[in-house]
Amino acid sequence: MSILTTTEILADDPGAIDACARCLAGGGLVAFPTETVYGLGADATNAEAIARLYLAKGRPSFNPLIAHVDSLAAARGIARFDAAALKLAEAFWPGPLTLVLPKADGCPVCELATAGLDSVALRVPGHPVAQAILRSFGGAVVAPSANRSGHVSPTTAAHVRADLDGRIDLIVDGGPVMVGVESSIVGCLGTPVLLRPGGVPREAIERVLGWPLAEPLVAAAHGSDAPLAPGMLASHYAPRARVRLDAAEVKPGEALLAFGPELPPGAEAAALVRNLSPRGDLSEAAARLFGLLRELDGCGAAAIAVMPVPPHGLGEAINDRLRRAAAPRA
Ligand code: TXA
Ligand code: MG
Repeated sequence: MSILTTTEILADDPGAIDACARCLAGGGLVAFPTETVYGLGADATNAEAIARLYLAKGRPSFNPLIAHVDSLAAARGIARFDAAALKLAEAFWPGPLTLVLPKADGCPVCELATAGLDSVALRVPGHPVAQAILRSFGGAVVAPSANRSGHVSPTTAAHVRADLDGRIDLIVDGGPVMVGVESSIVGCLGTPVLLRPGGVPREAIERVLGWPLAEPLVAAAHGSDAPLAPGMLASHYAPRARVRLDAAEVKPGEALLAFGPELPPGAEAAALVRNLSPRGDLSEAAARLFGLLRELDGCGAAAIAVMPVPPHGLGEAINDRLRRAAAPRA
């Protein structure tokens, strides 16, 4: 199957939304902004379109996708919600939360998208462009992050183009995203489990539930040995440069990813310095994380030294992505 095609880039306007909906209905691949990162969308019921999507991303096809819908009402036609799942959906949708739920009878999302699992991942995104596309298309859209598999997730249309130009049909440019890290994924197949830290801080999820989230490993010990969030390969989000975490100094030749007002020794000689948030704000840091990783990687330094980022709130997702960027390559 040849995947080379012409990629059109559209400004975000009503014409673009119509074009996206038509393209999706015809089995096309459309990149669009969500509040977390840009997604690469395909009709969730169209196995051929999804096969093209896996090919365009170069993604291992055992990795299931998130189905995006415009509302909780639409989601209830796809999956079964228990009381905890309903509480979370009502509190955080539309927004940066994905729920993994048992499939409803007659679940329209095709087997290729769910990698043959009995569960399905669902999200109602809050970004106005994503909402408009989903409403206009009128069905579920599977959308992984719009990057080549293993690359850093895209937070601008330019990042999408750099990775996928000539491999997908359309990109809607809705400007830079607001959140900057992917959605939090909570498994609701029994006791709720945090499968991936993300745009909704753990503390906020636990406040709504009224009890602590379980850890995936604990849940795995009680369930099957199927991967819980199989997309969570250790080396994901990999820049070309080596990534050195918790750096207390910058070594010769390294670039620096800083956090907070004070730079470590050696910063003055760094190949390039970028700061996630000079004022130490974790929301700002999340929004800038992937863009700055790309920029530092582009400067040609052999390694990127990363200052410590606090672990609470959005810091959990930021540290998770940084650890993956630093992991030995698969
Ligand atoms: O913010 C986001 O979630 C973005 C935007 C575009 O919505 N999407 C995104 O998708 O990050 P992706 O494909 O990069 O990550 C989906 C994650 C993977 O880790 C996958 O393994 C997990 O969701 N997942 C999907 N279905 C699952 C299931 N049934 N059980 C467990 N994990 C699942
Ligand atoms: Mg991804």
